[in-house]
Amino acid sequence: NSHTTYDYFDRPLRDLRISVTDKCNFRCTYCMPAEIFGPDYPFLKRNELLSYEEIERVTSIFVQSLGVKKIRITGGEPLMRKDLSTLIDRISQINGVEDIAMTTNGYFLPKYAKELKAAGLKRVSISLDSLNDEVFGKINGRGVSVQSVIDGIDAAAEAGIKVKINMVVKRGMNDQEIIPMAKFFREKGHILRFIEFMDVGNTNQWNLKDVYPKKQIIEDIHEVMPLESIDPNYTGEVASRYRYIGSDIEIGVISSVSDAFCSTCNRARLSASGSLYTCLFASIGHDLREELRSEKTDEELAEHIQAIWRGRKDQYSVERGDATTTRKKIEMSHIGG
Ligand code: GTP
Ligand code: 5AD
Ligand code: SF4
Ligand code: SF4
Repeated sequence: NSHTTYDYFDRPLRDLRISVTDKCNFRCTYCMPAEIFGPDYPFLKRNELLSYEEIERVTSIFVQSLGVKKIRITGGEPLMRKDLSTLIDRISQINGVEDIAMTTNGYFLPKYAKELKAAGLKRVSISLDSLNDEVFGKINGRGVSVQSVIDGIDAAAEAGIKVKINMVVKRGMNDQEIIPMAKFFREKGHILRFIEFMDVGNTNQWNLKDVYPKKQIIEDIHEVMPLESIDPNYTGEVASRYRYIGSDIEIGVISSVSDAFCSTCNRARLSASGSLYTCLFASIGHDLREELRSEKTDEELAEHIQAIWRGRKDQYSVERGDATTTRKKIEMSHIGG
């Protein structure tokens, strides 16, 4: 592909993750702890957000001039933004978009799943960290019930959207939930992915001791339900995949801490305010909003973004150590994971 853009380490730009809001109706302890994201927290104002027109324009540039093929809509909680289906519809009409997915907490899916599907949404990743109401209510910081997320999962599946479940595993918080979750989603037939607790942002009190590593997750499950590892679906897939022996049901483990996957990272992230981040752990973004609001042409914007990607040297998870953990980093709720 003549449009492919490579970074300093020869990694192509393929995947654009677009945050549409920094707000969320949950307050997960590892992402938006309620003590910090309280009633006075300065969320972005309307004119600070990229408009749908601006998102559509910058997305076409990424797809048509820079080689992006996959789009993922994130937040905060993306369904907090009004008329999200309109945006999905516009993006799905851009020539060259091969896949559109969304990362969501699932809460609003009973209301929106059908129209999202009609607008062209193909896949959702829904977060759920426990099947126990008491545990889950504490994690999400708002006492939201497990059933309300399961209703969202069912609504998406019934609407014909492919569903994956994301479970962040933190030692002492929900590691006892690994087996019940695995059994439940094996039964239900959705792919469950376990995510190691990461040191994203600066507010979640991350500590290496709280990470429950991939190796241990797999051992725990294998003891009860034997697993075999399977090949990635595509180069650069974030999750390592495993299958329950004798079935075609699979799980995944996303091991950013114990087994980094930076060498194949092809993801760019656009914050709701229009800044481009070339790593989930970046300290600074590159403002595209002012560029979009200037007189610049699409070609000029494409060249600007290309220059940013060409100079990209990020490999945070490879370099992670005591010194990096306390470095200033973008909050997860601004770029959506
Ligand atoms: P598929 O397109 O289905 O393969 O999805 P995905 O794995 O890209 O999707 P998803 O957004 O559900 O990713 C799950 C989680 O993996 C995210 O919420 C992040 O926590 C983590 N993750 C995704 N990409 C990266 C990355 O580039 N670096 C790190 N460290 N973690 C990532
Ligand atoms: N570590 C790992 N995953 C996280 N997520 C949010 N914060 C963290 C963290 N500190 C995940 C959520 C959701 C996605 C948006 O990112 O569970 O699946
Ligand atoms: Fe909201 Fe998702 Fe962050 Fe939880 S992890 S606070 S649901 S954005
Ligand atoms: Fe990509 Fe940064 Fe994640 Fe590494 S840590 S995989 S470079 S986003």
